[in-house]
Amino acid sequence: QYKMILDLDTGIDDALALAYAIGHEDIDLIGIIASYGNNLTSVTAQNSLNLLDLLGASDVPVFYGASHSITTDDFSVMPVSKLIHGDNGVGDVDVPRSSRSVSEQSGIDFLIEAAHQYKDDLIYLPTGPLTNMALALQKDPSIAQLIGQTTLMGGALTVPGNVTSLTEANISQDPEAANQVFQEQKNLTMVGLDVTLRTLLTKKETAAWRATGTEKGKLYADIMDFYIDAYKTLKIDERGAALHDPLAVAVAVQPDYIETLDLNMKVTTDRFTGDYGRTIGDAKKLLDPTTSKAAVLVDQDRFVSDFQNMM
Ligand code: BDR
Ligand code: CA
Repeated sequence: QYKMILDLDTGIDDALALAYAIGHEDIDLIGIIASYGNNLTSVTAQNSLNLLDLLGASDVPVFYGASHSITTDDFSVMPVSKLIHGDNGVGDVDVPRSSRSVSEQSGIDFLIEAAHQYKDDLIYLPTGPLTNMALALQKDPSIAQLIGQTTLMGGALTVPGNVTSLTEANISQDPEAANQVFQEQKNLTMVGLDVTLRTLLTKKETAAWRATGTEKGKLYADIMDFYIDAYKTLKIDERGAALHDPLAVAVAVQPDYIETLDLNMKVTTDRFTGDYGRTIGDAKKLLDPTTSKAAVLVDQDRFVSDFQNMM
């Protein structure tokens, strides 16, 4: 079993990633760091606590991460996030409130401690902005070589972005942090829109969840239907909604779902060139040994059907 830390901005597809990680026999989920992104950090942390209870995993601790990017003190949530994920982050569905609290230790310190404790056995899996990992790297640069694997949902290499034509939501929230992580962290895999937009879930699958008659099946179906409806209304995709965050969790432990391109990547941090926040290969490092990979192809049918069997 791999030790895994999820860094979530819960968020509907983050909620799916959480359920998937808990259900996967190869994953030992040791903690969740709460990020801002789809909602405020305080809201995403509470969502994770509530969902952990629903999933029967009340022993997994939740830690607060950053509340805003490194370079701004802007706490606001992008309006489109509320349209896609609902005002409460989970499709405006009432998930029973957990009686547990967020842990006192900071998420940044938790990540640093876990890196020293588990080293190569640790998978760090962010599905929101990369602020928390950048802050951890700034506090303890040694974690760059300690953490065994970093697999993240974010970025877009071969397809347009979903915030601007060049930028994806998670990376665009904190380009400086993302660039630091891309450049410093060893063994990093980017699972971006190139592959996640091919993994679509439909109301056929959510109807099957509802039909299980369980509380988890019903609430997850309601949450996911909100997301599928939003994809339709916002004309993102009429066929279904993308399994962005769960795909990243899946490929971290089953890399054969994807094909990757070896590439030293960077994130554009120049605010004046119009591509601020773009994920792209570093031209100056094209001949250097690579430390990062970008997913470019996915066996989407196999992943979606395995995902469905797990829920
Ligand atoms: C990513 O942005 C967030 O809204 C989703 O949860 C996902 O992590 C997709 O661009
Ligand atoms: Ca997310």
